[in-house]
Amino acid sequence: MASGKIIIAIDGYSSTGKSTFAKLVAKGLGYIYADSGALYRAVTYFAFTNGFIDTEGAIDKDNLQKVLPKIEISFKTNKKGESVTCLNDSNIEKYIRTSKISSNVSRIAELPFVRDFVNVMLRRMGQDKGLVMDGRDIGTAVFPNAELKIFMTATEQVRAMRRFKELQAKGEKDTFESVLEGLKKRDYIDTHRSTDPLTKAKDAIELDNSSMTLEEEIEWINRILLPNFNLQVELR
Ligand code: CDP
Repeated sequence: MASGKIIIAIDGYSSTGKSTFAKLVAKGLGYIYADSGALYRAVTYFAFTNGFIDTEGAIDKDNLQKVLPKIEISFKTNKKGESVTCLNDSNIEKYIRTSKISSNVSRIAELPFVRDFVNVMLRRMGQDKGLVMDGRDIGTAVFPNAELKIFMTATEQVRAMRRFKELQAKGEKDTFESVLEGLKKRDYIDTHRSTDPLTKAKDAIELDNSSMTLEEEIEWINRILLPNFNLQVELR
């Protein structure tokens, strides 16, 4: 039986509940949690606010590539103890979860120079292991040697309903149909891009949580996967 700190890579489609699950697993193991999607969202936010995406949605790739090395994106802990995404030291967490960013992030994330930029930051976070990271290519490209890889899925309808409720709670006006449409478009770009597309790693274990509660997901990882590493998630 293996022991010591490991890297847990959690990949999957949009709105499969990866980040909620990953956060809880990290907390229960005393590990660091890293949301790789937040970095792609932060780059998208930066591109919008600095004029690298025009009103028609065209991306000024050459100039974005030139300035990207000069920006700094980091995760900081706020007063409530939550991890927030910062761009050049300003907290941009609430700006990166809007529908505008969600509908454009995949076009930014498919640019190879953006992926290289983000991957350097992600790999740095894994240097000392003890990390749970979620995204689209964590088990395939960022940490292909991660000790544990999980691939999360759920039906499109279930995923769109989860995202719709999340947006409603934030007071956003999107309809269920537009959320479903946006989700399908993003899945398409994410699975068809030429650099590190979303795909299940050969050695990843699939978790379809269409009809599972979060507690059942934790029970599943504790029973099926973590005993191999002498680890258990403690829910407190
Ligand atoms: O919250 P949700 O699962 O819908 O998305 P996210 O994890 O915040 O990721 C937003 C977008 O960033 C994805 O749709 C991908 O286009 C991109 N992404 C990526 O390409 N690679 C990753 N490792 C993580 C996110």
